[in-house]
Amino acid sequence: MKTELLKILTSDPSRIVSGEQLSRKLGTSRVTIWKHIKKLQELGYEIISGPTGYQYKSSPDALFPWEFPGQEDLIHYYQEVSSTMEIAKELARKGCPSFTVVIAERQTTGRGRLKRQWHSDDGGLYFTLVLKPDVSPVMMSRFSFAASLSLAQVLRDEIGIDARVKWPNDILVNERKLSGMLCEMEMESDRVAFINIGIGLNVNNNPREKEPNSVSIKELLGREVSRKSILTSFLNQLKQELSNPNLDHIIPRWKTHTITLNRQVKIVTTSEEWEGVAVDVDENGALLLEQPNKEIKKIYYGDCFHQIS
Ligand code: BTN
Repeated sequence: MKTELLKILTSDPSRIVSGEQLSRKLGTSRVTIWKHIKKLQELGYEIISGPTGYQYKSSPDALFPWEFPGQEDLIHYYQEVSSTMEIAKELARKGCPSFTVVIAERQTTGRGRLKRQWHSDDGGLYFTLVLKPDVSPVMMSRFSFAASLSLAQVLRDEIGIDARVKWPNDILVNERKLSGMLCEMEMESDRVAFINIGIGLNVNNNPREKEPNSVSIKELLGREVSRKSILTSFLNQLKQELSNPNLDHIIPRWKTHTITLNRQVKIVTTSEEWEGVAVDVDENGALLLEQPNKEIKKIYYGDCFHQIS
């Protein structure tokens, strides 16, 4: 109902639409219309109600399901959760469809890679996307690389910032972290049951206080941007990338957007560290590190630090 109501009101914001017209178009009573309008106003929509009807003025930068027409049933929106990863895992195990998205305004225990915390203050974009491809687990990294590639592409094309990918899935602008990604997979016999991709993107928040080497889109542009547009474009872009069944093109394309290759790097896991030159990424996303003794080491996971040369 809210999707339809907003569609009518936003189609021509200069127009005042009467309660009578809305109830006729939507096949419901004027009282029901009024209740929905009141709810929308409480949620931050500026809708003027006057003697002749309702006039739409503006929307909050909120990620309510009805802001994603046609995908409402896939969007699970929360004000505050522990971590969207936990809710997405539960939904995935209970059989939710592929492309279900769990979004939260804030996370009390947002998780980063290698057991770090992901600070999730108001204004950022925090979500986990559930994917259910019928593939072998070895394909998992192609999905996560497709996600970081898609997000970087949207940030470049639609926001106009120089977003680059750092192995494995961070997005940096001028060497400062704009976005991080966490992937979790479960299997059923030897096939993927689901791949959950959790993304934290600094949009209209100020992450620098807690993470000195981070940056937000608001800091880069000096103005706020719509998180809804970024998420919508990202989901569309990723669907397009994933429409090619074997995803052979993902890693080669990722390489054209990365700033990790041919750099001196340090790779850190919870228990080990390696240094060397990042010479390549193989077809499954593993980093090929040329060590000081010229031996090539294949690294499947870890945090990558670009060494300043
Ligand atoms: C990292 O760079 O260390 C990965 C950060 C991933 C953060 C996102 S925010 C949404 C989702 N929920 C979480 O708890 N973590 C991921």
